[in-house]
Amino acid sequence: MRTLLLASALFARLFGLAAVPAPVPPASVPYSAFCMTEWLFATPCAEISFTLVRQIQAFSSLIGCDECQYKLVSATPPSIKANHTSPDGLQAENITFTLSPMMTGGCRVSGQSTSLGFTSLLDNGLNYCNLYNLLSGLFASLAAVPAPVPPAPVPYHAFCRTLWLFATPCAAVNATIVQQILAFSPEYELVSAILSSVKANHTSPDGLQAESITLSFRPTIMPGGCRVSAQSTSLAFTTLLDGGVNYCNLYNLLSASGLNSSPGFMEMTSEWACLGYGLATCKA
Ligand SMILES: *[C@@H]1O[C@H](CO)[C@@H](O)[C@H](O)[C@H]1NC(C)=O
Ligand SMILES: *[C@@H]1O[C@H](CO)[C@@H](O)[C@H](O)[C@H]1NC(C)=O
Ligand SMILES: *[C@@H]1O[C@H](CO)[C@@H](O)[C@H](O)[C@H]1NC(C)=O
Ligand SMILES: *[C@@H]1O[C@H](CO)[C@@H](O)[C@H](O)[C@H]1NC(C)=O
Repeated sequence: MRTLLLASALFARLFGLAAVPAPVPPASVPYSAFCMTEWLFATPCAEISFTLVRQIQAFSSLIGCDECQYKLVSATPPSIKANHTSPDGLQAENITFTLSPMMTGGCRVSGQSTSLGFTSLLDNGLNYCNLYNLLSGLFASLAAVPAPVPPAPVPYHAFCRTLWLFATPCAAVNATIVQQILAFSPEYELVSAILSSVKANHTSPDGLQAESITLSFRPTIMPGGCRVSAQSTSLAFTTLLDGGVNYCNLYNLLSASGLNSSPGFMEMTSEWACLGYGLATCKA
């Protein structure tokens, strides 16, 4: 592995919370949050820059619609800027990566994402940074892949990582999700449900695609809430497009059980963390 993810630091800062009148849950109040992360790569900055820019461009053309996009704003040797907007217009972020060469021949990448109108008091913005921490793993693996001849997609295990917030205690969310997995048998198979995580397998009805699913439950900062980190990963190597299968594996559990309309429900993900997000039409 040519790339080593050495460190990831995060700082979340919230603005204007004190000025906001106490909301009636699950009402959410807009605030501006930002997230800074730093990654050290044992790979030259030129290669990191190439990979990042290609990834941003791949996702903007992949989606091909005006409202759900990563847009490259500028790319110079020391800095890459991009915008992201979610399909529902609720999320908009300016993203800036600053690249500095290190003496060792590696590259230090600082990422800053400024969020406009990201709204949930449940978790005080921490999830936003967590999401970007997840992305750091993706960047590490991308940089570890030998540069392919563009535009050929690189085979890899397609995945979707997403974060859900609920104004419902974890025990109840957990029980509902486990019940739904059991109800979806044999398409879903419960592998384990111990302590704070639930694991399941998913197999497509034609038996051709298989994915593994992991959900981790943690109470939110605000009492009585639950934050769920969910991941679905294709077991086979796939090309870039997974047809939204990994996203739908997760989302179908929510919609079939009605959890997506439970109090305070909010989903935080992006095309970088979850392939097909914004494109997928899930059946359940
Ligand atoms: C990026 O976003 C900023 C402000 O949100 C906007 O002024 C700018 O035009 C956007 N650039 C692109 C290329 O979309
Ligand atoms: C993001 O866009 C907003 C709105 O145009 C602008 O005020 C802000 O300075 C931008 N932030 C960054 C980090 O580019
Ligand atoms: C989820 O439920 C299982 C039983 O189905 C239990 O063993 C586990 O502790 C629960 N986890 C949480 C976080 O509530
Ligand atoms: C889940 O999938 C893994 C990997 O394919 C397999 O080893 C395991 O037996 C499966 N478990 C269940 C309960 O289906």
